[in-house]
Amino acid sequence: MKYASVTERLAHLGGAKWVVHAKAREMKAAGRPIIELTIGEPDVPTPDVMKAAAKHALDADRTGYSNGRGEPALLDALAARYSKRIGRPFDTGRFMALPGTQTCLYAVLMGLVEAGDEVIVGDPLYATYEGLIAATGATAVKVALRPERGFRLSPEDVAAKITPRTRILFLNSPHNPTGAILSPGDLKALGALARQHDLWILADEVYEDLTFPGATHTTPLSLPELEDRTVVVNSISKSHAAPGFRSGWALGPADFIDRLLPLSETMLFGSQPFIADMTAAALSAPSPVAGGMAERFARRAGLIHDRLDGRAGLAVHRPEAGMFALLDVRATGLSGEAFALSLLDAQGVAVMPSESFGDALRGWCRIALSQDDALIAESCDRILTHVERLKEAA
Ligand SMILES: Cc1ncc(COP(=O)(O)O)c(C=O)c1O
Repeated sequence: MKYASVTERLAHLGGAKWVVHAKAREMKAAGRPIIELTIGEPDVPTPDVMKAAAKHALDADRTGYSNGRGEPALLDALAARYSKRIGRPFDTGRFMALPGTQTCLYAVLMGLVEAGDEVIVGDPLYATYEGLIAATGATAVKVALRPERGFRLSPEDVAAKITPRTRILFLNSPHNPTGAILSPGDLKALGALARQHDLWILADEVYEDLTFPGATHTTPLSLPELEDRTVVVNSISKSHAAPGFRSGWALGPADFIDRLLPLSETMLFGSQPFIADMTAAALSAPSPVAGGMAERFARRAGLIHDRLDGRAGLAVHRPEAGMFALLDVRATGLSGEAFALSLLDAQGVAVMPSESFGDALRGWCRIALSQDDALIAESCDRILTHVERLKEAA
């Protein structure tokens, strides 16, 4: 039988990235106690007030068909939120509600690029980005994010990769896996490049509300001159500890959102009204959980830094936001994947290898900050023991 070429393009961009995580889950199912520091789940359940809102909407029979753009009350809530946050009016015609940031990214990329186009993106990058770009037929052009620049995308490095085929500058700030935040100066310089070369800016801001105390997130939307070329995607997955609800949105120029409508209708024919009602209520008040998560994740990143940075040749990159810290294990001589697999076997600690996040970062691991402090501390001790044993054996 013949399959479409998209299946080939995506064939190696799926499960292979999650091999350590999958193995950890298998070991857990077989009864072995594993400390799982792989995926970025919030460390609290979805707030009761949101579950109550969803239940209330279910009881009110909000289970009919919606429309491809989103429920009016949700679009109103989004318009109010962004108008307040950015300080300029954003009307409802600029929004589309879709199931999670992931679906938004898929739809937006399908609406902007195709075979022959290039998308510039930082490397390391979130595990699904390569697949998202490949699905459209476009090519991902990766720009290495350098540790000495705090892993912030460098405008000079981006400029060097722009060609006549470049269509999108794909930003992720706050960034997964590095936790880096683009500065206002970075954004101004990147925005100038986008204007000079007539590029779209696609900004994944899913960690916007998990900015650590003392750090500030800046969105490209805050620069009015970028408004006609910027598409922002976001969701309640991280900010409201609600990834399973799959509730996100895209915000872009009204004509782009209009063009996206047939795509959304073709794909989904609308999201679930009871989830839209819950999301509208959630977005109309500050998140009850984001601040607490940001504080705890910042504290745990500090704990990992204090326990591991500079010990046995290890280095820890301190994030400014998000759910992860990065550990440099190059001193062991192992790749990130070989280290993560050996750590899992020897110590029962599961971390993600840097090779799951692109090509630029080899010999690092990503540690999720979503377990409690005692388990994080215990994991650090086990990591140190493992590294010391590896060094003795070498
Ligand atoms: C950078 C980034 N973008 C998008 C997503 C997916 O978010 P959502 O649950 O809203 O689809 C994640 C999830 O971990 C992420 O880290």
